[in-house]
Amino acid sequence: MDKVIDGKKIAEGIEEKVKQEVRGIEERYGITPGLATILVGEDPPSKLYIKLKHWACQRTGIKSENYKFPEETSEGEILELLDELQSRNDIHGILVQFPLPKHLDEKRIMQHINPKKDVDGFNPLNFGNLLIGNESAGFVPCTPQGIIHALGAYNIAIQGKHAVVVGHSNIVGKPIALMLLNRNATVTVCHVYTHDLKRYTSSADILVVATGVRGLIGADMVKQDAVVFDVGITWVDGHVYGDVRFEEVVPKASLISPVPGGVGPITVAMLLEHTIKATQKSVTH
Ligand code: GUN
Repeated sequence: MDKVIDGKKIAEGIEEKVKQEVRGIEERYGITPGLATILVGEDPPSKLYIKLKHWACQRTGIKSENYKFPEETSEGEILELLDELQSRNDIHGILVQFPLPKHLDEKRIMQHINPKKDVDGFNPLNFGNLLIGNESAGFVPCTPQGIIHALGAYNIAIQGKHAVVVGHSNIVGKPIALMLLNRNATVTVCHVYTHDLKRYTSSADILVVATGVRGLIGADMVKQDAVVFDVGITWVDGHVYGDVRFEEVVPKASLISPVPGGVGPITVAMLLEHTIKATQKSVTH
């Protein structure tokens, strides 16, 4: 098997399943799964991510709505829209695209999303369920779940492995560390204040890098035959670059996710799955 993860192919497989699930829900319950997204400001990558999410909804039959706000929108306006969307029974999943403009408090917004519609898994109740090893009770963040999915798709065992996570964000670093821990990996979390990063990364069986520092990880920092997930995205003049020096690291890795075309498409597919799960929960609970 090729050692470069084909995120698009994995995502296509998931989308096929989601399509059938959408049809099944429509036939059985007479409703269509619905996702609402909120985008504030003009961040070009965020605009593209939102587009990709809506295109994936269109391909699979999920109904989706995007609410676009100018940069200077107040927190009250966002919270008001969240209340309105949360009261609608044709909207099953809600996502607020991050990062938000600095004057908005992301944590307060995460807290305001109804955990049952929190398809991003950022509400503290969902995060708490992840922390106590009860992932299936709610939603876990899409990107780390995509990584776990890819590990399964390529038959990589997690238990007992040394997993090193570089980056401790709420979106990727913290949740992937918890998910690997829940699957009995020995987990080391490194971040911007870690001294001698190479000391840790070079002993990783599974290395997950999510810092947004272009080319941070070179071949000398990676163990022979490591599994490497590059979750970093840096935009320069419309091109995207990962945190891992791909060409350099590829010969050393036993499996590696590229940027673009690796974890990104799988993340979007996870969001579709979560929207299905939220819809099923809404009719069966
Ligand atoms: N920004 C970068 N990744 C994500 C994500 O998974 N969800 C949201 N809402 N914003 C993001």
